[in-house]
Amino acid sequence: MTGPAQFPQFPSDFVWGVATASYQIEGAVAEDGRGPSVWDTFSHTPGKTHNGDTGDVADDHYHRYLDDFNLMAGLGVGAYRFSIAWPRIQPTGEGPANPLGLDFYDRLVDTMLARGISPAATLYHWDLPQALEDRGGWMQRDIPQRFAEYAAVVAERLGDRVSYWITLNEPFVVTAFGYALGTHAPGHRLLAGAFPVAHHQLLGHGLAVSALKSASVAGQIGITNAMAPVHPASSDRADVTAAAVLDLLHNQTYGDPLFAGRYPDELAAIYRGADLSVIRDGDLALISTPLDFLGVNFYNPHRVQAGGPEQLGTEIVEYPGVPTTAMGWPVVPEAFTELLTDLVARYGPALPPVYITENGAAYDDRPDADGRVQDDDRIAYLDAHLRAVHAAMAAGVDVRGYFCWSFLDNFEWAEGYDKRFGLVRVDYDTLKRTPKASYDWYRSVIAKSSGGAL
Ligand code: FCB
Repeated sequence: MTGPAQFPQFPSDFVWGVATASYQIEGAVAEDGRGPSVWDTFSHTPGKTHNGDTGDVADDHYHRYLDDFNLMAGLGVGAYRFSIAWPRIQPTGEGPANPLGLDFYDRLVDTMLARGISPAATLYHWDLPQALEDRGGWMQRDIPQRFAEYAAVVAERLGDRVSYWITLNEPFVVTAFGYALGTHAPGHRLLAGAFPVAHHQLLGHGLAVSALKSASVAGQIGITNAMAPVHPASSDRADVTAAAVLDLLHNQTYGDPLFAGRYPDELAAIYRGADLSVIRDGDLALISTPLDFLGVNFYNPHRVQAGGPEQLGTEIVEYPGVPTTAMGWPVVPEAFTELLTDLVARYGPALPPVYITENGAAYDDRPDADGRVQDDDRIAYLDAHLRAVHAAMAAGVDVRGYFCWSFLDNFEWAEGYDKRFGLVRVDYDTLKRTPKASYDWYRSVIAKSSGGAL
């Protein structure tokens, strides 16, 4: 492990942050008027999450946020990426705002600002109000409109204090896992037929951007995508085609409409049988409204070979000899540099400045008697990936900040509490927080690496 002293210098205005999401940390699912979300329903359905885990209590951040912000302030971060739970603001996804829900996020924002931490608010990190799912969820065209109305309600209350607005988190993951494969809420298996979910999220994004602008919010506006380079397992034509298919499903379906104002030409061939008539005149113009930034979430690249129709012709395989995290995700830091430089090559000047809005790793942490974790594997992952970001910046990519996933161990969706990504350990019996070695490491990186020229 290389010490922070040798760590490369980032620009003095580089934003260092940490990230979380509402359902993964808040708990208090039935308090202060919150309505149920698709993740409440899904996690309470037997067999859907590891061990039947739910977000009912999670990290109990809803009640412990003061302690959490004190701990966060100790890191020296300049920004915090959190998400707002739509069902706290509009319990059924529409209609008048629930004042207690807005009050909670008002308190959060003021508490971070008092500690010198800039709020980066994600409006949608997967907790769709269940009442909207009951009407067809993101498959339906009226959901984008509801999302924009919700964005307007939040903007009216917090628009003067939030520094970064992120409309959606990872629309690809919602389409793929939530509606195509069914491993995430709401658990549908529509395969290629899930395409309308992609389009309606993008449309919701475009409408929300216009709602935020109409509300004259003070902060910058962007979106966060999960992005990953895709490598063919061999130079065989079938594997190369499989890689192109996954690149289209994962990256281009979202990046092209946002930054090129069009869908890829191969759309109909790839989403075979999907209803493409959901793309209506004027949608792409809205979706491609210029943004202040792109949020990039990166964990690992994909290596693929030709696969069966269930996998839309593309099957993910191992990188031989490459270590993996506890999620089974390959650790390939140089793919992060590749991703960022490729984004510039693909979209040119239409690509706005980039913030890394998530990057991190789950490992099987082994606490000592005091709950301390010497998580050298996580430190090595973060160290290598930050160097990869730095290399992309040195190659000319305009990266403005980095948010580590995650501040706290939390509810890792279908993996429940089994997978830990935090810089801070959470004991799920006592809810006690204990900073890991990676917390101290990140604090020294922030302290020593900012303030210099690149
Ligand atoms: C991302 C999610 C985030 C977290 C990480 C590990 O896909 O946005 O909530 O679960 O993966």
